[in-house]
Amino acid sequence: MNMPKSLFLVIFGASGDLTRRKLMPSLVKIFFQKRSPENFAIIGTARSVYDDESYRGYLRQYLQTSPSLSEEERGCIEDFLKIVYYQTIDPAECSSYLMLDAKIESLSTEYDNSGNLLFYLATPPSLYEIIPECLSKSGILKKKGLKRIIVEKPFGYDLKSAKKLNSIYSKYFKEEDIYRIDHFLGKETVQNIMVTRFGSTIYEPIWNRNYIDYVEITAVENMGIENRGGYYDHAGALRDMVQNHLMQLLALTAMEPPARFDKDSFRNEVIKVYQSISDFSESYIKDNIIRGQYTESETSKGYRQEKGIGADSRTDTYIAMCLYIDNWRWEGVPFFIRTGKNMPTKVTEIVVHFKPAPLKMFKLRDEHRSGEKLILRIQPNEGIVQRVAMKSPGSGFFLGNMEMEFSYEKSRYNTGDAYVRLIEDSIAGDPTLFTRQDAVEQSWEMFDKILEYWDKHPDTHLYGYPAGTWGPKEADELIAKVGAEWTNPCKNLTNSNLYCEL
Ligand code: BG6
Repeated sequence: MNMPKSLFLVIFGASGDLTRRKLMPSLVKIFFQKRSPENFAIIGTARSVYDDESYRGYLRQYLQTSPSLSEEERGCIEDFLKIVYYQTIDPAECSSYLMLDAKIESLSTEYDNSGNLLFYLATPPSLYEIIPECLSKSGILKKKGLKRIIVEKPFGYDLKSAKKLNSIYSKYFKEEDIYRIDHFLGKETVQNIMVTRFGSTIYEPIWNRNYIDYVEITAVENMGIENRGGYYDHAGALRDMVQNHLMQLLALTAMEPPARFDKDSFRNEVIKVYQSISDFSESYIKDNIIRGQYTESETSKGYRQEKGIGADSRTDTYIAMCLYIDNWRWEGVPFFIRTGKNMPTKVTEIVVHFKPAPLKMFKLRDEHRSGEKLILRIQPNEGIVQRVAMKSPGSGFFLGNMEMEFSYEKSRYNTGDAYVRLIEDSIAGDPTLFTRQDAVEQSWEMFDKILEYWDKHPDTHLYGYPAGTWGPKEADELIAKVGAEWTNPCKNLTNSNLYCEL
């Protein structure tokens, strides 16, 4: 770790939604816990015209009502705002960076900072290329002191654009100073996948093809695209969720134990998982990927009626796919992945299904008993459910199931906020939980094949599903090929009832 004594966090896109909703509340928490460097200040920049005072006023109104802050944290907002500054610049215009440079200079003596800068790009992706170039041209990067940069997703639109971005960033920053954020990796429950697997002897010995039948990875939401039509219609669910967040969940579920938990060992194992995924050939894509788009229902409008979306848009808002990992551990085990907007509930979880016991000495109480499984609930109602076989109480010997549950909230563990963890790590100089260049490119290499196939075959089915339902029936048919069904949790999961299936 490399926590500097003094640091300026320079936020591009400081008047935007992400800064207001996620970054600033996270920074208040870090400030409240006194976990920032001794001499720490935040400089917001954007096109919107503010000075220090009016920007503080703008932030104050949001922070005071931010649902992610506790009463005590709100109590430190005024002290926090004293270390927040603002400089209006046009981020697409290199000449305006001279004003940013002057602002940094003007604060240097007060904060005893001779050039330690952490840049956060919370801007539209269209600015990701120009910002590092302007930072360089303006001379800001030439000053002595550490220079790190955090870039939000999406990192690239396809393999070509991701490679181009990587080559630009590597001109100006060392790889270990580039923090490509995938906020899923900042979630406590996502990190806990590794501890459940590698920190205990219970699961790891059976975490393989000999004992595991199949795995489901689900990240669905009950909201539509809200006001993000402009971005979403060019991205779709595959780019927005699968290429990044779901691939990270897959990597943590399937990876080999790293020799150490450090930035190289951990990320080497991630890339090995990606490299072992079975080739996405044309016939594979045709048979194993289901694209869907939500349509109008009684309670909600359809995707094509959303603001900014064309009446003939063929963008996917739902993806279900089956993939295989060709290595000793996973050969032959299907991984079913699904994501969707406007589903019945918001839930992210990994369900690991164990093979049935070979013995047939007990009768089943009902014909459709599904087997033993482990549910790693990432959010909400964070926790773990282990479903195990149990004698169905009463006369005779019938086999039933029972669920053992662990809920973070019931145990009064606070799962924290992904952005707090990731911002802290980038301040402290720990890129372990950020995506490395080779992983971004490896992942795009796979997903480019799917995008190219869809381009080449514009008639590929896009199945409609009424908003608020569990997606197209074709996705049920996909998982039914291995005799399975999706695990659809109830809408009303609670912390005292983590397990509840439809
Ligand atoms: C973002 C996607 O990266 O993740 C959004 O762009 C999605 O479309 C969001 O809603 C989901 O994140 P979370 O943490 O709310 O599950």
